[in-house]
Amino acid sequence: MFNQILTLASIVSTASVVRAVIIDSAFLENDFSKIGSQKDIYQYLYGNAPHFSYPVNNSIPLDIPETCELVQVHLYARHGERYPTSGSTANGINAIWYKFGNYTSSFNGSLAFLNEEYQYPFANSSNYGLLTTPANVANPYNPLLGSITGTTEGLEFLERYSEILYKHQNFTAWTSNSLRVHDTAEYFIEALGDKFKVNLQTITEDPSQGANTLTPINGCPNWNESASKAIMAKYDQTFLTDISKRLNTENPGLNLTKTDALNMFNWCGFEINVRGYSEICDVFTIDELIKYGYYGDLLTYYDEFIGNPLANAVGSVPVNATLTLLNTPEDKLDQQVFLSFTHDTNILNYAAALGIFTDSPALYPESIDWITDFHRSWIVPQGARIQTQKYNCKSSNGTSSSYVRFIVNDVVKPLTNCSSGPGFSCSLPDYNKFVEDRFKDVDFYSQCGVSKVSNITELSFYWDYKTHDYNAPCEI
Ligand SMILES: *[C@@H]1O[C@H](CO)[C@@H](O)[C@H](O)[C@H]1NC(C)=O
Ligand SMILES: *[C@@H]1O[C@H](CO)[C@@H](O)[C@H](O)[C@H]1NC(C)=O
Ligand SMILES: *[C@@H]1O[C@H](CO)[C@@H](O)[C@H](O)[C@H]1NC(C)=O
Ligand SMILES: *[C@@H]1O[C@H](CO)[C@@H](O)[C@H](O)[C@H]1NC(C)=O
Ligand SMILES: *[C@@H]1O[C@H](CO)[C@@H](O)[C@H](O)[C@H]1NC(C)=O
Ligand SMILES: *[C@@H]1O[C@H](CO)[C@@H](O)[C@H](O)[C@H]1NC(C)=O
Ligand SMILES: *[C@@H]1O[C@H](CO)[C@@H](O)[C@H](O)[C@H]1NC(C)=O
Ligand SMILES: *[C@@H]1O[C@H](CO)[C@@H](O)[C@H](O)[C@H]1NC(C)=O
Ligand SMILES: *[C@@H]1O[C@H](CO)[C@@H](O)[C@H](O)[C@H]1NC(C)=O
Ligand SMILES: *[C@@H]1O[C@H](CO)[C@@H](O)[C@H](O)[C@H]1NC(C)=O
Ligand SMILES: *[C@@H]1O[C@H](CO)[C@@H](O)[C@H](O)[C@H]1NC(C)=O
Repeated sequence: MFNQILTLASIVSTASVVRAVIIDSAFLENDFSKIGSQKDIYQYLYGNAPHFSYPVNNSIPLDIPETCELVQVHLYARHGERYPTSGSTANGINAIWYKFGNYTSSFNGSLAFLNEEYQYPFANSSNYGLLTTPANVANPYNPLLGSITGTTEGLEFLERYSEILYKHQNFTAWTSNSLRVHDTAEYFIEALGDKFKVNLQTITEDPSQGANTLTPINGCPNWNESASKAIMAKYDQTFLTDISKRLNTENPGLNLTKTDALNMFNWCGFEINVRGYSEICDVFTIDELIKYGYYGDLLTYYDEFIGNPLANAVGSVPVNATLTLLNTPEDKLDQQVFLSFTHDTNILNYAAALGIFTDSPALYPESIDWITDFHRSWIVPQGARIQTQKYNCKSSNGTSSSYVRFIVNDVVKPLTNCSSGPGFSCSLPDYNKFVEDRFKDVDFYSQCGVSKVSNITELSFYWDYKTHDYNAPCEI
């Protein structure tokens, strides 16, 4: 085992795949010149690629306006960069790898890199679903790992919000019991430093948790998981057959299918989370990446966002709980910073109910919608984060009023028709009215059929953590 880099030839000959354990210096050198070089395509990769800030900045300063005082901050955060999950995602990528492994000729065209020393990053199934960290990748110096995103996010949060953080150095934070989510929360909290004593509560994702969870979609048996099916059937997917046909023509006998072409986009995104770059991404033309990007937006809009009839009901759970906190005078609160860690789907449900990215007309499958501001990867890249700020501002006659605004992946996202407050915020009374109007026909418990799985009708963990210990064991 002196040569740690497995070539495809050696894998074919031994028909078994072993993970490299020590870093090869030639590999590292090769690596460093390429890490981070594919940032331009992250926005087409369904949120599977590493974190990036919201790509359209409206220039609204992130600082709290001068006459105002920040009194509450709420964070809803996705886990950082990760391995593909076991099941269909990993299986789909492995199916391509097996075809490559069974191919006896040398590779041509954009797959020619497989003739060189190529190390398959997903050979070890024990890594599936885990946050990428220095301990589980071949190059621990890759800066695009999930652990580093968690740490960086914590450091940036400390820099931006240190004043309000220092008001309660002993505070509680919440995570779902998914291991990668929990690990991200730990990296974030550790980055705040040992001046803070953070009590991290871990809440099960089990459906029996009903409304009292960071993952309310799990307790929604009426959720239609194939709501996008009819829409997707109308979306032109010849770009996938173009990819498989092109690769099969360059490499006769490779037998790649349209499904393989689709799964290759997952390989591309997740490999960047592990190695910092991916040669598989170079297989695609920019047109194919754009078409795949919209494929993902359409799928998400109808399966996880407001195209799904229950998105508002599910998202109302965290939105309503946050609103209750926003309406609570700070002298009645034990803390003013609320950190919550969960998954992309839950953040999409949350954004739907918040009423951000919901103003454009519904996405349509007949052609690409170039106008919409709904782009899956812009909202939930790995390490996605939505912050809610509440601040009190004094007006010239000396009275003080409260305002709220949202920050999505480091950019202020004003509410349509409610942005006349300082810093393009919405006054708290107007925001209450806005939510009330949006939720007038919404009821999570009855519309989701929650009673089939749970009798828990309300989210209570932001209040009852002192009497209930949320300490669910983590699961992958
Ligand atoms: C596979 O991954 C697991 C989890 O990261 C790790 O503990 C184990 O050592 C790895 N196995 C090999 C052969 O590298
Ligand atoms: C967006 O613009 C504001 C104001 O110029 C700046 O403070 C902020 O850092 C920018 N955000 C990003 C993600 O570039
Ligand atoms: C060849 O394909 C089979 C079945 O798909 C798979 O089990 C096997 O691992 C592949 N061989 C290589 C060397 O990848
Ligand atoms: C492609 O299909 C042919 C015919 O079924 C088969 O002989 C060949 O092994 C396949 N190639 C690969 C790489 O699986
Ligand atoms: C911090 O808060 C927790 C829970 O409210 C409490 O049990 C603990 O004693 C507090 N620790 C300190 C150092 O104040
Ligand atoms: C789910 O949505 C699809 C597409 O709108 C629809 O055809 C199907 O009937 C729905 N299924 C259920 C159980 O409502
Ligand atoms: C693939 O590459 C080999 C070696 O470079 C070459 O002989 C062969 O003609 C190429 N095949 C195709 C289909 O391009
Ligand atoms: C909203 O939250 C409050 C406080 O937790 C709760 O009393 C109320 O039942 C919730 N409403 C809905 C519709 O979930
Ligand atoms: C003070 O100014 C605010 C904002 O301009 C206004 O809404 C409020 O009615 C004023 N209050 C008094 C007592 O004049
Ligand atoms: C904003 O207000 C205008 C004028 O009242 C209205 O036509 C429009 O529908 C509103 N947009 C949203 C997203 O509420
Ligand atoms: C909810 O279900 C649990 C377990 O089945 C039971 O112990 C509890 O009494 C129920 N609570 C209500 C309010 O029905």
